[in-house]
Amino acid sequence: MVQLFNTLVVSAVLLGTIAYAQFTAECGVGLGSCPSNKPCCSQYGVCGVGAYCLGGCDPKHSATIDACTPAPICKNIDSTFPNLDRIADKGKYLGDSSKADWVADGQPMIYDNNLLLTMAPNTVGTVLASSVYVWYGKISATLKTSRGKGVVSAFILLSDMKDEIDYEWVGVELNSAQTNFYWQGVPNYQNGGNTTLQSDTYSNYHTYEVDWTPDTVTWSVDGQVGRVLKKSDTWNETCNCYNYPQTPARVQLSLWPGGLSTNAAGTIAWAGGEIDWNSQDIKDNGYYYVTFKEVKIECYNPPSGAKKEGSGSKSYTYNSAVGLESNVVMTDKNTILKSFLGSGTNMSADVPKSSSTNPSGPSGTSSEIATIPGLTGAGTGANGLRGDDGTSSSGDDSSPNSSSSGSFVQGATSNNAVQRVLSGSMLAVVVTIVGVMVL
Ligand SMILES: *[C@@H]1O[C@H](CO)[C@@H](O)[C@H](O)[C@H]1NC(C)=O
Ligand SMILES: *[C@@H]1O[C@H](CO)[C@@H](O)[C@H](O)[C@H]1NC(C)=O
Ligand SMILES: *[C@@H]1O[C@H](CO)[C@@H](O)[C@H](O)[C@H]1NC(C)=O
Ligand SMILES: *[C@@H]1O[C@H](CO)[C@@H](O)[C@H](O)[C@H]1NC(C)=O
Repeated sequence: MVQLFNTLVVSAVLLGTIAYAQFTAECGVGLGSCPSNKPCCSQYGVCGVGAYCLGGCDPKHSATIDACTPAPICKNIDSTFPNLDRIADKGKYLGDSSKADWVADGQPMIYDNNLLLTMAPNTVGTVLASSVYVWYGKISATLKTSRGKGVVSAFILLSDMKDEIDYEWVGVELNSAQTNFYWQGVPNYQNGGNTTLQSDTYSNYHTYEVDWTPDTVTWSVDGQVGRVLKKSDTWNETCNCYNYPQTPARVQLSLWPGGLSTNAAGTIAWAGGEIDWNSQDIKDNGYYYVTFKEVKIECYNPPSGAKKEGSGSKSYTYNSAVGLESNVVMTDKNTILKSFLGSGTNMSADVPKSSSTNPSGPSGTSSEIATIPGLTGAGTGANGLRGDDGTSSSGDDSSPNSSSSGSFVQGATSNNAVQRVLSGSMLAVVVTIVGVMVL
């Protein structure tokens, strides 16, 4: 009973008492790795614990190769959207892929048995990521895109090593789907391709499929092959390796503002110009949206010679930051954190049960533990950078200063590019209260 009570109070703290901090990229290519007190490098390059160590955590730029939690192994999924039951909010999800098929950041909604991902004025949109990882498989989505200048709809595969296979739709080109791929996030603007469609992508459902094997990627629309990429064509003599997507990836569905005024010029141009937040669609609905009717994941067998520890039935890990197919290890390791204070190296880390142990040092210190990373709106592909930006800034670090207080807000809403932070001293206060009540 006492235990349960503690858990409830602690959940209330973790989810309810949340301050905001300005987003600044701290880890990643050119920035180095995270320090040991906040070991996990999030998808968007910020260090923390908890949700920072779950989906999207970058093992290459985390404090150690095992700082990120083991990634839930592939599972066949056929998602339709009668309700939001299989979609967890990122602020509540601790890594149990049996409880949710998707993890959301932003504002997903259900309308008429379809999933809408929305982007209201001055927000950075919505992203849904699969709770499981796919290490080769056939993935398809039946959807209607959004539309408008600077509005980008996306259906992609993205690995923690930043291997990527994309479909993207720029809201001013409603008669084509752009295809793309990246290896370890290395920007290569020669990789893009276009698939022309018979009817426009905003008014009509089309089924977009990625068939990803160890040797080829095939993009098909409505059953017609649009593009094939062969691994054998991606050899790179500099790294003596294939620049081919080859590591376990999450499926990501998103709507993001490529045309945000603070993005790099080449990205805005690629996205069709700056977003119009006073467009007719905004006047009519209050947000831009993309509509998903169904998403399917069919897992293929791991590549021949895949490394296994034990039966290798639960999770994917890496044995090296080199991050190639041969560095993936299938394990029986647990994927679920006990609390948002955990990480891959301390999955059972929990909030102390008694006031006698105070994790935050002397009371009143303002130590902060970042536990749930924010969205940046940088989108896909080498962190959203597109086109010939050359030396310009990275496009995801220039959001206006956000409000630094306020209560919990699901997703990003108007707080662009923020991360949620649990204040250490606040934690100490609540731990003390719990201690007193137990007495
Ligand atoms: C796709 O086609 C559109 C026009 O049809 C063009 O503006 C765009 O640059 C093309 N994208 C790629 C990646 O080729
Ligand atoms: C080849 O790989 C290196 C990384 O080792 C990368 O910097 C370079 O851009 C790659 N070349 C091409 C053409 O993508
Ligand atoms: C894991 O975290 C707990 C706090 O929840 C701590 O007491 C323990 O020492 C940590 N274990 C390791 C190995 O760091
Ligand atoms: C925004 O943040 C920058 C750097 O943190 C600071 O120099 C600047 O004064 C801030 N601007 C406002 C309006 O708060």
